[in-house]
Amino acid sequence: MKTLFDKSKLLNMNMKNRFFRGALWEDLADEKGHLTPKLSAIYEEIAKGGASTLITGYAFVTEDEQPNPGMMGIYDDSFIPEYKEFTDKIHSLGSNIIMQIVYGGFMTYYKVGERTIWGPSTIKNEVTGTWAKEITKEEIKYLVKSYGEAARRVKESGFDGVEIHGGHGYLLSQFLSPYYNKRQDEYGGSIENRGRIIFEIYEAIRTAVGQDFPILIKLNSADYIKEGGLTEEDSLYVAKKLVDLGINAIEVTGGNESIQEVVNNNMGAARTKIVVSKDRESYFKNYAIKLADMIDIPVILIGGNRHLEVMEDLLNNSKIEYFSLSRPLTAEPDLINKWANGDRKKPKCVSCNKCYSTPGKRCILNIRAL
Ligand SMILES: Cc1cc2nc3c(=O)[nH]c(=O)nc-3n(C[C@H](O)[C@H](O)[C@H](O)COP(=O)(O)O)c2cc1C
Ligand code: SF4
Repeated sequence: MKTLFDKSKLLNMNMKNRFFRGALWEDLADEKGHLTPKLSAIYEEIAKGGASTLITGYAFVTEDEQPNPGMMGIYDDSFIPEYKEFTDKIHSLGSNIIMQIVYGGFMTYYKVGERTIWGPSTIKNEVTGTWAKEITKEEIKYLVKSYGEAARRVKESGFDGVEIHGGHGYLLSQFLSPYYNKRQDEYGGSIENRGRIIFEIYEAIRTAVGQDFPILIKLNSADYIKEGGLTEEDSLYVAKKLVDLGINAIEVTGGNESIQEVVNNNMGAARTKIVVSKDRESYFKNYAIKLADMIDIPVILIGGNRHLEVMEDLLNNSKIEYFSLSRPLTAEPDLINKWANGDRKKPKCVSCNKCYSTPGKRCILNIRAL
């Protein structure tokens, strides 16, 4: 029988248990995306709390584009020395650390009007009201190159891996979605075309970091709308193709939060009202089970993982290997240690999402001076 505290290896990264801390933007980096003591302190606290691998909040890959304030940056080499010190510190506390990288696009309210915001098509985001300008093929080349350079910096900074953000309604998931991708060229239409920018980004990253460095993607399993969005079938195609290209793990998420229907129906990545029943937990599990059956690299499940017994059941009755927790570790950074020490308590987090509106994205149950 497998346990959540089994040791394993993901490529050459040692996992001391099967828990990741999922990416979570803290809004605590400075104006340019550089680390602050408050931001580092949050990661140190979570590392001390026992999660095997921490994934950073999304970091922006080009200087002129960030979808939210207070994000970490990775758009030039000035970040390398401070991140090196940061990753050394997290390693000394016993955890691995992976950086998630992103180009946000029109899912943003931040400095709109001051910057050019690319999208797959010239179209208005119906949730934020922000317009995107259709990215040209030349600009796609520049963006792909920027991802590669960002990943090279991630590696030089001592991170243990890099994760591509391919979900939640940010640019790469906008490309995947026929709801927003109306292109007529080789980046639109069939799923092979809609996925092309991601495949190119993967290749640029692999060229930059070499074969031994873990590349992950956090991938939308579907948009979760009735008609016209990314389907699970299309997402499985993208996942399978990335495996064929050589990606090292897929973190399964879902929900296109650039679509109003998704927001209205609570079908986004960070769902509320999940504590009412264990059936509502681990809400992307059905897709993740299917995907894990199809591929031979690790599948990481994120989204509403709460009770140990639900994860243990998935671990032993499917091929899902790892579990990410985001909000529960905001509420209780030492939750994994408590579990490791035999306390099978349920997490404190009630999935209310009030942390989206607090300074530093802190938990309302746990708020204290930053
Ligand atoms: C405040 C906040 C910030 C988030 N920032 C990110 C992010 O930077 N990148 C990302 O992929 N997901 C982000 N998420 C989504 C989480 O990683 C996760 O997918 C979601 O919260 C569901 O997992 P959970 O139930 O364990 O919280 C964020 C969620 C919250 C609540
Ligand atoms: S504010 Fe709510 S959702 Fe956020 S961590 Fe706390 S309990 Fe969980």
